[in-house]
Amino acid sequence: MTHPNAKEIIERTKDILVMTYNPQPVVLDRGEGCYAYDTDGKKYLDFAAGIAVASLGHANPAILKTLKKQAGRLMACQASYATQEKLEAAQLLVDHSCFDMVYFSNSGTESVEASLKCARKWAYDTKGPHCNEIIAFRNSFHGRTYGSASVTEKRHVQPYFGPYIEGVHFATFNDLNSVKALVSDKTAAIIVEPVQGEGGLTPAEPAFIKGLRKLCDEKNICLIFDEVQAGFGRLGTLNAYESFKVEPDIAAWAKGMGSGFPVGAMAAKRKFGSAIVVGTHGTTYGGNPLACAVVSTVVKQMLKRGFLSNVKKVSKVMFEGLAQLQRESNKITEIKGKGLMIGVDTNTKCGDLLLALQKNGLMATKAGNNTLRLTPPLILKEEQAHEALSIIGKTLKEMD
Ligand SMILES: Cc1ncc(COP(=O)(O)O)c(C=O)c1O
Repeated sequence: MTHPNAKEIIERTKDILVMTYNPQPVVLDRGEGCYAYDTDGKKYLDFAAGIAVASLGHANPAILKTLKKQAGRLMACQASYATQEKLEAAQLLVDHSCFDMVYFSNSGTESVEASLKCARKWAYDTKGPHCNEIIAFRNSFHGRTYGSASVTEKRHVQPYFGPYIEGVHFATFNDLNSVKALVSDKTAAIIVEPVQGEGGLTPAEPAFIKGLRKLCDEKNICLIFDEVQAGFGRLGTLNAYESFKVEPDIAAWAKGMGSGFPVGAMAAKRKFGSAIVVGTHGTTYGGNPLACAVVSTVVKQMLKRGFLSNVKKVSKVMFEGLAQLQRESNKITEIKGKGLMIGVDTNTKCGDLLLALQKNGLMATKAGNNTLRLTPPLILKEEQAHEALSIIGKTLKEMD
């Protein structure tokens, strides 16, 4: 078979793959650090990073070394076996968080499923079978399997997948009174994203998050943070909850945790995590030695001096630079987000802006209705932040 060119790859992909996304007009070939290259050799500053996934950048040498070493030792084993790799990763995660227990999965949606099941099981055991309701938020996104899709607001525009799981109520994000109005003795858990990602890069207000914690303590409700997009350094702290100085009872993790290797986890305080017992939940791949070895490598890199402070430093450069662009251009209407999870609202169609940015050498993604989402690798350097800002500025001017 001859090597097909980009156009051919895209056309054949459209024909043979179940189309869950519109294919981009370029085909990516390789990546290095904060840059990605297409099959024509064109270089892009990667501010998509697999949607907040490639936290340590592309082709990270430490991850490559780990993958090579671990793949040659032990890649798969039955989940019932303990391994050094699983223990080391779990130990690192509990040592550097408020949690006592970890359940490994393979993706964000699975981590959310485990969190919901754990919370419901805890409520069933301690409060009774009637206590199974979950409060989620408008504009939320938690994944695409049935539990996570049921707590995702988009279910309302996807009736064809119904019926969804019962007992889910939607409150208004950043409105504590709307949550209080839904709480009853049937409420098992509240699930919230510390920064709504897919919904449009809206951070929770600190008082709202603190209010949720207080409410859950008073009413004996399990508080779940979905840190799938905001966790693992993205907000400038290893755990997203640290940026709000509020500890959840359970957290769902994935994305940046594996920096491109598919892995996720649910982390829980013992009181909640111990509700899941042998035979109640499980996974074939979750906790496999290869994934766990990568997680340990990623966490160790993030704990190195200067890693998280770099996120805060370049985040400041980005937010200040975007504010300057907003002053110079009439196109930017709002700048949102936190850390390196940045949203820019413009009065142009985000799809058109993304294509123009791509043409000018910057890859990004869309969130919410029309928000440009910037989620670069966390190893981004100041000069690369300036490079991105100059591409964004130039592109907005061209679109004037
Ligand atoms: C907050 C949040 N939760 C869950 C998910 C689902 O993760 P995955 O696509 O790995 O299943 C995502 C994915 O974008 C997310 O942003």
